[in-house]
Amino acid sequence: MEEIEKTLLAGLEELEKASSSREIIEVKNRYLAKKGPFAALYKELGKLSGNEKAAFGKAINEARGELSEKLEKKLLAALSKEENERLLKEKIDISLPGTSLEEGHTNPFYLILDEIVDIFVSMGYDVVEGEDVETVDYNFTLLNIPSEHPSRDPSDTFYLPKDGVLRTQTSAAQGRVMQAKGGKGAIKVISPGKCYRRDEDDLTHSHQFGQVEGLVVDKGVSLAELKGTLEIFAKKMFGEKREIRFRSSYFPFTEPSVEVDVSCANCGGKGCSMCKGTGWIEILGAGEVHPNVLRMNGYDPSVYSGFAFGVGIDRVAILRYGIDDIRRIYANDKRFLSAFKEE
Ligand code: DAH
Repeated sequence: MEEIEKTLLAGLEELEKASSSREIIEVKNRYLAKKGPFAALYKELGKLSGNEKAAFGKAINEARGELSEKLEKKLLAALSKEENERLLKEKIDISLPGTSLEEGHTNPFYLILDEIVDIFVSMGYDVVEGEDVETVDYNFTLLNIPSEHPSRDPSDTFYLPKDGVLRTQTSAAQGRVMQAKGGKGAIKVISPGKCYRRDEDDLTHSHQFGQVEGLVVDKGVSLAELKGTLEIFAKKMFGEKREIRFRSSYFPFTEPSVEVDVSCANCGGKGCSMCKGTGWIEILGAGEVHPNVLRMNGYDPSVYSGFAFGVGIDRVAILRYGIDDIRRIYANDKRFLSAFKEE
């Protein structure tokens, strides 16, 4: 009987010292296990008989029951306390401001590109995508650009293996469009995209820039229609008061060729630093499609004629937004780009 009392007291004492659920479980495992001290006492029962056995058995049961009950009670309390502490530690203050994500927005290059595309689509043009990686044929030869032309020089053009180039002009799409038509039927398309040239980058030059190519082919298309089209474009792009003028120019793929200026929006034509005192700013090249270009791409120049134009997207963006350095358009400087956030 003394042994039972001692075992119980030892167990209670250890339980007293145990403070965490882990320690309590350790006491539980040690005392109530199959090979624990109470189990050893039960084994003693075999040596007794009759009343003694009954009394001894009852005493072990009671002692074990008492310890077990106290263990469970303390374990539950410890577990619930630990759970509360854990929850407190993990508590989230939902009233704190979150980490704000910076919202992206469209680069001015694409704002302008979208506008240009919209203007021509509203005039009935289809949009075709050209290829950034072009063949020498589409980029030069089929545009009537002679083999000795300086623009073909590797110091001006990025050449790639297998007769490839990074397109230097969206005009490269012209041959693809005409050939796809098999030399028959009207064409009225624009083809926007990036172009690449081996230029030293400075305030007004960049090795990458955007163009929107326009190509109209049909029976009896004239330069007058080109002028009317570009007038509408200039007014929609730069405002009703803008005027355009054609200057005679030269491109191998057009004859006649023109360069098109728009009256300076900054000074209204009086002359300022933006238009270098001339009152006019060049925005594109254009002309009547050269008969050789029509012929090489399957169209009969005695039946069909056409006009083409190439608008510089960056140039238009610079004029519209008064950007002082063309490199800003692709440099990804967030301070610059954030100025174009639409409200
Ligand atoms: N491809 C010319 C350039 O990059 C621009 C151009 C001029 C396009 C006349 C045309 C055109 O379609 O007819 O400078």
